[in-house]
Parts: sequence; C-alpha cells; structure tokens
Amino acid sequence: RIRSHYNFVVKEARYTRLCSTKNILTVNGKFPGPTIRVYNGDTIYVNVYNKGNYNITIHWHGVKQPRNPWSDGPEYITQCPIQPGEIFTQKVAFSVEEGTIWWHAHSDWTRATVHGAIIIYPKINSSYPFPKPYGEIPIIFGEWWKSDVNEVLTEFIESGGAPNISDAITINGQPGDLYPCSKSETFKLRVEQGKTYLLRVVNAAMNLILFMSIAKHKLTVVGVDAMYTKPMTRDYICISPGNTMDILLHANQEPDHYYMAARAYSTGVGVDFDNTTTTAILQYKESYNPLSVPSLPYLPDYNDTSAAFDFITSIRGIPDKYSNGVPKKINTHIISTISINTFPCPNNQSCEGPNGTILAASMNNISFVNTNIDILEAYYYHIHGVYKKGFPNFPRYIFNFTGDSLPLTLQTPKRGTKVKVIKYGSNVELVYQGTNLITGLDHPMHLHGYSFYVVGYGFGNFNKSKDPMNYNLVDPPIVNTVTVPKNGWAAIRFVATNPGVWFLHCHLERHLSWGMETVFIVKNGKASNETLLPPPPDMPPC
Ligand code: C2O
Ligand code: CU
Repeated sequence: RIRSHYNFVVKEARYTRLCSTKNILTVNGKFPGPTIRVYNGDTIYVNVYNKGNYNITIHWHGVKQPRNPWSDGPEYITQCPIQPGEIFTQKVAFSVEEGTIWWHAHSDWTRATVHGAIIIYPKINSSYPFPKPYGEIPIIFGEWWKSDVNEVLTEFIESGGAPNISDAITINGQPGDLYPCSKSETFKLRVEQGKTYLLRVVNAAMNLILFMSIAKHKLTVVGVDAMYTKPMTRDYICISPGNTMDILLHANQEPDHYYMAARAYSTGVGVDFDNTTTTAILQYKESYNPLSVPSLPYLPDYNDTSAAFDFITSIRGIPDKYSNGVPKKINTHIISTISINTFPCPNNQSCEGPNGTILAASMNNISFVNTNIDILEAYYYHIHGVYKKGFPNFPRYIFNFTGDSLPLTLQTPKRGTKVKVIKYGSNVELVYQGTNLITGLDHPMHLHGYSFYVVGYGFGNFNKSKDPMNYNLVDPPIVNTVTVPKNGWAAIRFVATNPGVWFLHCHLERHLSWGMETVFIVKNGKASNETLLPPPPDMPPC
C-alpha cells in the first residue's frame, strides 16, 4: 500500500534491447523505475543513494513543492548534484496534484533511463470525477539508444551538431515487435471485456512529441499533468515530453488482440528524428487468436501539425474547481522568444552545426549556461556573482519572428544566466514566441514549482492588441508543460504564490542542453507562511 519512505538506489544495471546489451543507469535496477503511489495531500521522503558513476539529481516533475525548492532537484538550479557514493533525502509534498505525474533525473541526459510514474489517488474519502475504473495501467514512453546515452551527449556537445537519434521508442521499457530484433520485447495490456481501465500515460521520451492510438478503441482524456480535465474522447492523443495524461479506455470491442502504437510528431526542417513506430498489445483475457496479427491503428503523419494542435488545443480545464481561478488583472507581463540559434565555430575547429557552426538555443536571446553552485543557494545565502538579474525584455520594435528575415541581433544569442525576479503574489502572464531562425519547431515549455493556465495559442507572431481578446479565461487547462506550436505562440497565466527558485525550460532534452531555459526567482511574501523554508541539513555540497 502507501508508504511514506522510499529508497532510491541509483545504480547501473545490464539491459538488452534490439539484440544489444549495455549498462544503463537505473533506480533500484529497474527500467522504467519504480512507480510511486500516494494520496492527494500526502508527503513522502525519498532517500536517494548514488551508487552509480555519474553525478545525479532527482526531480519530481509537476510537484509544486510549496515553499520548498530545496527538494525540487534540477542540477545547478536548486541543488548541486549528488556525487557517486553520496546520499540526499528529498521531501516530496503533494499539495494539490491529483492524477498522474512523474519523477526523473535532472542531470545531463541521465533521465533517459532514470524516470518513473507518480500516481496520486484522490484524497481519502473523496473520489474520481468519473466512475471508478476497474483497473489502472501505467504507460510510460521512452527512447532507447543502443549506445551509451552519456556518450551521445558528449559527442553532440563537443561536435556542435545535433545528437544521434534514438534507435527505438519504448512503451514501459519495451520497443514493441515492429523493430528489428525485438520480437519478444512487447508490453501487453491485459483487459477484460466490458471493463474500463485508467491509462496513466507519461511521455518520458527525451526528444519526441508523440502521437498514440489503439486499434478500434477510443481514448477518453480525463486529466492532464495531474489536474482533471473535461472528458474528451478521441481516436488518438498527442503528448509532449513532460506531459502526463489520465485516459479512460473502455474494453468494449470483440475479445481479440489489438495494437497500441505511437510515433513521433516532428516538424523542423532538417531535423532528424526517430520515425519508427513503437507498439504494445492490448489483449482481451477472454480470448484472442495468438496466430493472427493484430491490426495497426490509424496515426497522424509525423508532420501533421493540425492533427497535433487540434488535439492539444481542445483540452479544457474544469473551471475553478481545483484552483482560485484564472488571474484576470495581470501585473507582470513577460514575453519571451524561444529560438534555435548558432554560435560561430571557434578558430581551428570544425563544428558540425549548420554551415560549420555550433547549434544553440535561447530564450529572449540568452542561451543559459550552468553556474558553479546552484542558483537557489546563491540566492538564499546572498552569494554574489553566481547569476545575474534582468532577464531581458522582449524587443519593443516590431518584426517578423516567424518569417524568413530576422535582425542579425537575433541570430547569435549571448551566453548568460539572467534570471527573472518576480514579486510574491504577482499575477503573471508569460507569452512564448516561437521563431524560425535555424528552423521552426514545436517546444514543450515546462515550469517548475507551478501549474499554470494555458489561455491562448496561435500560429505566427503574437499580436499584443488582438490576440488577448480571444483568450480562454473560462475553462483553460491547468498544466505544467505547454506545447508552443511551430512558428507560433502560447500564453500562460499563474499567480506567483510559491516563493523560491524555479527552473523554466524546453522539455526536449537537446534544446535544454543547448540553453533554451531560464530561472524565475519568486520573492518571499510578507506573512510567515509566504516565505521560503530553510534548507535541509544534508544538501549536497558543490
Ligand atoms: Cu521534467 Cu525540469 O523537468
Ligand atoms: Cu524546444
């Protein structure tokens, strides 16, 4: 049942996929890692033992961690990494989340194999806003490289080019039987006819937004990012890295077996991605013909932007039931470009980015770099010179972000650590503006410490005077990761009532590695319950 203490032993384990074997970093030897099950309102303590060879941190993705960024986990943002041989105990307080979220490593590319689901049941004596499902099935998407993931990372950072694409997409750690040499590696969902199951879906893939569907079955989305949504029934879903979904599946077809399939949605010109299909098998317990081949479901094409955004923008929240309502009067406006850029290649080197450059990414033209000690400690102990304030304002002059010609100042970003300082209690609106610098891409933008309302989406340039008139202030979804459409924008709102240092970044791992991130520092409020808690005694030293 429910435990309040967990041991996470981070260690290497040998795994074979696609007929090739390698050591991967795991928690407790498992891939994907252990599922955590709690009730809304619970607090748990996790002892993280680093018995591997790499620095590691663990992040509780989508957990607000009220007043306690000390347990949030992103390396060099809220803590220094746990070094091999060391232990750190994290307190994880579930305050409002209900549904499915996840945990993952937040140090270099270790999250490729170090991740797992978190299932948050309704508070004791309360219930789901839908009939209680007969069973629950976690579905965790991942990506598998035959080579060592740490080598994939080192190679592309050193070359300046793009990372090698993964060799397979996985469902609960299994590629499914459509890959070469993967016949026995298929996850099976066993169901009884007439029953309803709750799929707890996590996209833990590193660099892929995914379409997923199940042959002959409809999917009813009832929650996103551990917040319930209005039920929405579709033939397929589209889910970005960082997002999680609660989905009802009615086993209401002929007893047989059916494919669940997923593949990438990707739009960038000249961007390589894994265009393969991963599968699992939905198997009715009553009967199926083991000799028949299950049929594949329909999936939108990899570049079908309207299929992706028809789905994403149709999700509706349940107004004001799980929140204090959408902030209407905004006093902190932030607009940020999110761009892929390049840096010139240093002399005497050959770089593998476009035209011999180094690939980079930025927000408002700052390509964020790691600091030597974490920003949270620098802020808390007033250590100067670690980071800078003054996240740049959006350029005042008008130009076309998503067209072809852009000012030179936007082509090459600046490396830096400029954070955005926000007053406690501010009503914040943040508009992400995609650009078409190197290529236009969709970016799943994630904010730590908060969930936020997605009040608007659009293609092209954000229009400050017209677009806000079409915002959804009635039933916007409440999420922790918003997918900004290719060559478009998305607007989010939240009330800054969680003091601390909170990471904000693209959840496509390669973009995070290239610097598409910044930090929000939310100051303390006046009341004693509006201030940052003190650090635990065992914070890992730098
Ligand atoms: Cu899944 Cu920084 O997050
Ligand atoms: Cu991105």
